[in-house]
Amino acid sequence: MICDNITIENGILYFAGQDTTRLAETYGTPLYLMDEDKIREKCRVYKHAFETHFGPSAQPLYASKANSFKRIYEIMKEEGMGIDVVSSGEIYTALRAGFDLSHAYFHSNNKTDEDIRYAMENGVGYFVADNAEEVKAVEAEAARRGICQKLLLRLTPGIDPHTYEAIATGKVDSKFGSAIETGQAEEITVFTLAQPHVELVGFHCHVGSQVFGEDIFERAAVVMLEFMAKMKEKYGFSAPMLDLGGGYGVRYVARDPYLDIETKVGQVAAVIRGTCERLHMAVPEIHMEPGRSIVADAGMTLYTVGTVKKIPGYKNYVSIDGGMTDNPRFALYGSDYTCLPANKMDEARDFTCSVVGRCCESGDIIQEHVMMPSSIGRGDIVAVCTTGAYNYSMASNYNRLCRPPIVMLSGGKHYVAVRRESFEDLCRNDV
Ligand code: LLP
Repeated sequence: MICDNITIENGILYFAGQDTTRLAETYGTPLYLMDEDKIREKCRVYKHAFETHFGPSAQPLYASKANSFKRIYEIMKEEGMGIDVVSSGEIYTALRAGFDLSHAYFHSNNKTDEDIRYAMENGVGYFVADNAEEVKAVEAEAARRGICQKLLLRLTPGIDPHTYEAIATGKVDSKFGSAIETGQAEEITVFTLAQPHVELVGFHCHVGSQVFGEDIFERAAVVMLEFMAKMKEKYGFSAPMLDLGGGYGVRYVARDPYLDIETKVGQVAAVIRGTCERLHMAVPEIHMEPGRSIVADAGMTLYTVGTVKKIPGYKNYVSIDGGMTDNPRFALYGSDYTCLPANKMDEARDFTCSVVGRCCESGDIIQEHVMMPSSIGRGDIVAVCTTGAYNYSMASNYNRLCRPPIVMLSGGKHYVAVRRESFEDLCRNDV
């Protein structure tokens, strides 16, 4: 199986040791499941790797855009993780979970004045400014409050991470950050250092997401460190922090490689140490912001099959009771997923089909070329694996479909972390 939390017993699919068909019966479908123990395991892997390779001050930050709801911030708090937030909505959710925002890093390429006020009001520890205009806006608000705001600058190191175009962010022409290559990174650094109410504490980059490339993070680290050395030499500024962003890839299908995080972090650390030595600079405090690699394979979505349509000589469709509203990733990126017949795992899979959603949209596809048992039909349960990242967080109410609940699985028990939306919820803001 693509992850060790997926098993089969008596022809039934189990997730985190629990019978998925019973969970579907108990909570209804579509249903998001989250394996809490797996999330905690991943946090600990990152924490341990950071402590071992970067020292005790290095902190992994959970990129909460991957999946944001109250319970997940509680878990991050309990696991001693920092967080990356990108909006007032994520800040609000973290606050409601009692997360200490001094360990929060506020990203985004366009923070509104209202966002900046809200974040400062609530004690967000670090701002990550995308551009000079943002630095100005942060300076103005900090001055108004009579505080000095800690801030990092997001730079683009000019590295192509070889992932989907839509999630590659570290290239020079990216909408994110200030490019080192064009000299804008240096300009914004000089500008920021001159601001009296902003304390520049470091630099940030994020090259992309679902990255498997051998040395992408290492190359990004070298470019960033060389830039930092130049800032020290030219302006006497030694930045204490370097944040290398998120992006490690996960296995959606069996042909995807498996990345061992401890090894990967160790390799980046070795390159950082070597580069710092070469550049005669102290090793900065290192951060990374994994999102997907913490939560993706802790997630699974269960659906009930409705119509099975066979178009002889053409195509077969298995329609499920969710779709692009709870998982838009195939529609957006053509992403791979593993789809399994949860209640028929012991049957031969010899029926090729497209698993499609129920939205009024031809592109509402979960996955193409899926092998299912030929007996698949109304009432069967289909499980889609590895849906813990960027599914719930990108879900919508298109066609007035209600978003599924999130049920957490831990130590053989299950509980609701997010309730299923009701029809009333759908009309809540309609006047
Ligand atoms: N840090 C920054 C600044 C980011 O922009 C992102 C992701 C991360 C960290 C976390 O990256 P991760 O470890 O999750 O790869 N919706 C797309 C992914 C968009 C990623 C956006 N930024 C998807 O479904 O694949």
